[in-house]
Amino acid sequence: METLIRKGAEADIYKVRWNGLLAIKKIRLPKGYRQPSLDAELRKRRTIHEATLISAAKLAGVNSPLLYYLDKSNYSIYMEHFDGPRIKDVLDDPDLGTTKIFEAVGRSIGSLHREDIIHGDLTTSNFILISDGCLGIIDFGLSFRSNRLEDKAVDLHLVKQTLESAHSAVADEMFTDLIDGYRSISGDESTNRIKSVMRQVQRRGRYARSV
Ligand SMILES: Nc1ncnc2c1ncn2[C@@H]1O[C@H](COP(=O)(O)OP(=O)(O)O)[C@@H](O)[C@H]1O
Ligand SMILES: [Mg+2]
Repeated sequence: METLIRKGAEADIYKVRWNGLLAIKKIRLPKGYRQPSLDAELRKRRTIHEATLISAAKLAGVNSPLLYYLDKSNYSIYMEHFDGPRIKDVLDDPDLGTTKIFEAVGRSIGSLHREDIIHGDLTTSNFILISDGCLGIIDFGLSFRSNRLEDKAVDLHLVKQTLESAHSAVADEMFTDLIDGYRSISGDESTNRIKSVMRQVQRRGRYARSV
């Protein structure tokens, strides 16, 4: 059984059975415009990189999907399937339940940053509200390790921007809850420093990512 559930720019997502378990398979597809051996090398490297960061996030105490299997030669990651709506869907449809989930979002981000993991793509599509009320965080394709305050500030800035553009009426309230959750993990000092760097990033309107 393999059901395509999403076609992305870089990868396709399938719901599959793996060793009897319901699982997600994320497979990186060839890009015709790249030279084939370079394309294969890039896809392999990015697949391994994402699998590594998914696991590192789990070691940081965050609910990332459990890594079931890394199929390097097929550019595929098999991982735990989180059963539930994305936060984006919850916010778009208030009937789906509470929006009081941003403290948990902030705690997840705080736990990643405490271990110097930058998620790199913190949109509301990459958080899943699992049926039992837990929060899952996915999509570590753009994640990287850094202890720079600016990288952490940019991570938070992206969430703020996503909330402001898609859910402007409640964005401030949600971001306040998020910072409360973040602060409970990172502490006052570090949170205040990151918030002040965030203001600089916002003023500048651009940032230099570490390489
Ligand atoms: N572990 C998972 N459990 C449940 N749904 C998932 C999982 N991984 C991905 N998805 C679904 O597939 C979509 C795309 O996956 P994602 O890893 O975010 O790929 P992309 O890099 O294309 O954004 C997610 O928004 C989510 O709906
Ligand atoms: Mg995604």
